[in-house]
Amino acid sequence: MRAAVIPAAGLGTRFLPATKAVPKELLPVVDRPALQYVVEEASAAGLTQVVLITSDAKPALLEHFTANRDLEAALKASGNASALEQVRAVGSLAHVTTAHQSAPRGLGDAVLCAADAIGDEPFAVLLGDDLIDARDDLLTRMVQVRQQRGGSVIALMRVPRDEVSKYGCASVEPIPDDDSAVIVRGLVEKPAIDDAPSDLVVVGRYVLDPEVFEVLRTTPPGRGGEVQLTDALEVLASRGFDGAGGGVTGVIFTGRRFDTGDKLEYLKAVVQLAVEREDLGPAFRSWLQTFVAGETAEPFAHDRGLSADRLVDE
Ligand code: G1P
Repeated sequence: MRAAVIPAAGLGTRFLPATKAVPKELLPVVDRPALQYVVEEASAAGLTQVVLITSDAKPALLEHFTANRDLEAALKASGNASALEQVRAVGSLAHVTTAHQSAPRGLGDAVLCAADAIGDEPFAVLLGDDLIDARDDLLTRMVQVRQQRGGSVIALMRVPRDEVSKYGCASVEPIPDDDSAVIVRGLVEKPAIDDAPSDLVVVGRYVLDPEVFEVLRTTPPGRGGEVQLTDALEVLASRGFDGAGGGVTGVIFTGRRFDTGDKLEYLKAVVQLAVEREDLGPAFRSWLQTFVAGETAEPFAHDRGLSADRLVDE
């Protein structure tokens, strides 16, 4: 397996005006674009080819992952070895190309747009809004499960019952002697709470058999009038492991996931990832503690024109 598909065709409306000229996939999470984390994850799982599904040209996306000789020469000339190393590393993560989605017809349609680029091989799909903590190796595990069991593999996470309607939701059966994976019997996209088959929902990581393309070609629009990847996977799950691309296994993910598609969750992701950084963490954590203590003691400090920095100084 060598390829990862990353849908990146959204307009980023939730982050306007920041996303007017900058694709939302390039918004920074600490000091790296959100998309870079996702490409690094694919690369860490051994995938060397990345297909970005885009609607407009979004040239900045490709530029970010391509070598920039002028910048490298300037950094070399100024002796900035650490910046040079970082810039070079991004350029060599994976071979990144784009495939075009002509209209926003849903995640299933976006994946189908990669059919020519992928061909008849299993491939991964990573949703850019979901960041998975790099220490959790979720995708690597999913690739192993595909090798062992065939079919397709999805990542599942337990969520509180009142959150299931935000996700694809799975009905599952245990695999004997394996607590970390399940057989997926059925899937439904964003069900009403009362119709949800379980509290196990789909997070944005998939390892798919190429048979999914055949199914997507005939998948009608579903929830929200869009072609849903969940609906195509429901078809593959219902076929069972038939040796012809059917069958879906769920890997239960218990690690950390950040949703950078939502403003509040994006802020949480930035803070959590920043406090853990060796370079920034100690200073940021201690500032944060003082800031939060000040907020608790002086909830109306901002109304009196006190900035967070002055609260710390005082
Ligand atoms: C998509 C999928 C959904 C999945 C979710 C994970 O939904 O359609 O099944 O649970 O990603 O983030 P979206 O968030 O794009 O509406």
